[in-house]
This record gives sequence, C-alpha cells and structure tokens, in this order.
Amino acid sequence: MGMLKEDALKGKRILITGGGTGLGKAMTDYFLELGAACLITSRKDEIIQATAKELSSKHRGNCLAIAGDVRNYEDVERVVSYGYEHLGGIDILINNAAGNFISPTERLSHRAFESVIGIVLQGSINYTLALGKRWIEANEQGKTVLSIVTTYAWTGSGYVVPSATAKAGVLAMTRSLAVEWGKKGIRLNAIAPGPFHTSGAMDRLLPGELAQLLSPTKRIPLGRLGKLEELANLSAYLISDYSSYVNGEVITIDGGEWLKGAGEFNGLDIIPDEQWNEIEKLTRKAKST
Ligand code: HXC
Ligand code: NAP
Repeated sequence: MGMLKEDALKGKRILITGGGTGLGKAMTDYFLELGAACLITSRKDEIIQATAKELSSKHRGNCLAIAGDVRNYEDVERVVSYGYEHLGGIDILINNAAGNFISPTERLSHRAFESVIGIVLQGSINYTLALGKRWIEANEQGKTVLSIVTTYAWTGSGYVVPSATAKAGVLAMTRSLAVEWGKKGIRLNAIAPGPFHTSGAMDRLLPGELAQLLSPTKRIPLGRLGKLEELANLSAYLISDYSSYVNGEVITIDGGEWLKGAGEFNGLDIIPDEQWNEIEKLTRKAKST
C-alpha cells in the first residue's frame, strides 16, 4: 500500500539505473504513481523498453527508457543528456544497478572483481559525478541522490567480496558527498535492504538447493522476505521533499536480519520455552559459586 499522498512526486524527474527489473522497476512503478516522470536505463534495451511501455500505460506518468552501461562514462553522459533533452532535466538519481554472484574469493578472476566493482561502485560514481557536475554548474538546488546498498556494506560478507567491497565504497561516497555537496543543495542518502525476492538476486545468490539450505526467512526476526512495496515506500520518502532534512543517512530495511546475526546471544532463539526452567536453575545456582 502506498505511503505518500497523491502527487507527492509531481514535477520530479527521476533517473533510475537498473530500472527495468526487480527493485528498480518496483521503485519506478511507485514514483510514477506519485506523479513523477522517470527515465530508466540498463544494458538490455528490450527489457527497459518493455518496462517503460508497461508502466507508462499503467500510470498517467511519463516513463522513458534508454540503454547504456553504467561502467561506460560516455554511455552515462549520453543517458543524462537524453534526460535533459526529453524531460527538461533530472532532479533525482537512483543508483540501483548492480552485479553480484556468490563465489569463494580465491576462485574469482581479477575480471570478475572488475565486473562487479565496475557496475556497483564505478557505475554509481559515474552517474553521481555526471549529474552532480551539471547541478552544481547550473546552481540547481533541491537535488538528491539515493543509492541502494546492502547491510553487508558495513559488516562485510564472505562469498560476495566484490559486492561487499563495492557497496562499502558507495556508502562512503554517499556520506562524503552529503557533507561536501550539502552546501550546494544536493542531498545524498542510501537504503540498505536485506533479502527481497527478485530473480536477479535470488538466481545468483541462492541458486538451486541453497534457497532451502540458507533460507533467509530463518535468519530474519520478522520471519519473511521484504515486500517490494515496502522498499518502494521508503525510497519515495527519501527522495521526496518530506525528507528534506535527511542527508548522509543509510536506512536499513531487513526485518532485523543483520542485527540478529550480530548479537552474541541471539542464537538462543532455538531454546524451547520449557527448557528455560532448567537453564534458570543453573544461572541462579551460579550466584552461590
Ligand atoms: C565466477 C564469474 C561468474 C560466476 C561471471 N564471472 N559470473 N566468476 N562465478 N558466477 C566472471 C566471468 O568468468 C568473467 O571473468 C567476469 O566475471 C566477467 O563476466 P561477464 O559475464 O563478462 O560479466 P558481465 O557481462 O559484465 O556481467 C556481470 C555479472 C552478471 C555481474 C557477472 O551476473 C550480471 O550481469 N549481473 C547483473 C544483475 C545482478 O547481478 N543482479 C543481482 C543484484 S543482487 P573472466 O576472467 O572469465 O573473463 C544484489 C543483492 C545483494 O546485489 C544483497 C542480498 C541480501
Ligand atoms: P536485479 O533485478 O538484477 O537488478 C539489477 C539491475 O542492474 C538490472 O536491471 C540490470 O539490468 C542492471 N545492471 C546490471 N549491470 C548493469 C550495467 N553494467 N549497466 C547498467 N545497468 C546494469 O536485482 P535487484 O534485486 O532488483 O537489485 C537492485 C538493487 O538492490 C541492487 O543495487 C542490489 O544490490 C540491491 N539489493 C538487492 C537485494 C535483494 O535481495 N534483491 C538486497 C540488497 C540489495 P541489465 O542486465 O539490463 O543491465
């Protein structure tokens, strides 16, 4: 269910990288519902054109699409110019495109690292720089960048080391520029999602039997994956004028997952209620020793 009131994003022009699928598509869908005009981009032209067509006809909003690789700065400039030409400008950037897959790190080639870091870190830098330069040059105020990171941006995580390294970089960029560019009227924030069901993520991170073996729902205090509209609601708030004093923040949306992994005694969840009587006897007995 949508959180913000009708037309909350009316007049906003939003560029969403990776907007053709998964979380990017869900955010674009809600931004259009709230009256924004959107430009989505990714490598696969057919997919983004189909998404733009579907969402434009679903909403009164205008959704455009243009293909490009976030790693290639010429593509980035071409996509941004397209936005200025066809939407009259860009007010909001969503750094959402990503590449990721699980692997023991010693099995990775340097090109595998290059690929993921290129998409996640260099791609986010490319778009932030291209738009930041334009906004600052024209002294445009009230602009904002929202980057989608993940909870292991600060904890790190084995088996997704290129992604963890790159997401940590995106978070550092967000916090650094929030300060440096705050005085120029640009806000930067991030969202750190836990697991949400998208085929892009699940097919690469929990393929085959791993989906059962490492079922994220077992690790999440709320006992379920995130819903796409929950992420869309948070993102819409963070790019809207309602959050105009939020700058340099990262908001976690993971049902409590990473804290459960971090708290020393959270594993005691497995103790059944009846066994606590016995345990209490032991802990009380410790008083006399
Ligand atoms: C080992 C692999 C590999 C794999 C690719 N490589 N896949 N190595 N295991 N599964 C190696 C290749 O052999 C090659 O190295 C290098 O990586 C580049 O591969 P390409 O296929 O040329 O890369 P490219 O076409 O750039 O594709 C990028 C990609 C791909 C990341 C590899 O998966 C992709 O397009 N992903 C986009 C969508 C995505 O990943 N979505 C998930 C986001 S989920 P060599 O040496 O052979 O040349 C997410 C959630 C995190 O981030 C948090 C969850 C809680
Ligand atoms: P997804 O559907 O695979 O989205 C990734 C998007 O990035 C795709 O649309 C892809 O499109 C685009 N992309 C990849 N490489 C690109 C490149 N070089 N240039 C331009 N676009 C590129 O997966 P998702 O789950 O929605 O992920 C969206 C974001 O959420 C990512 O930042 C991810 O790290 C983050 N996240 C997801 C989860 C989760 O559980 N789903 C959890 C935490 C964080 P093309 O292939 O057409 O280029």
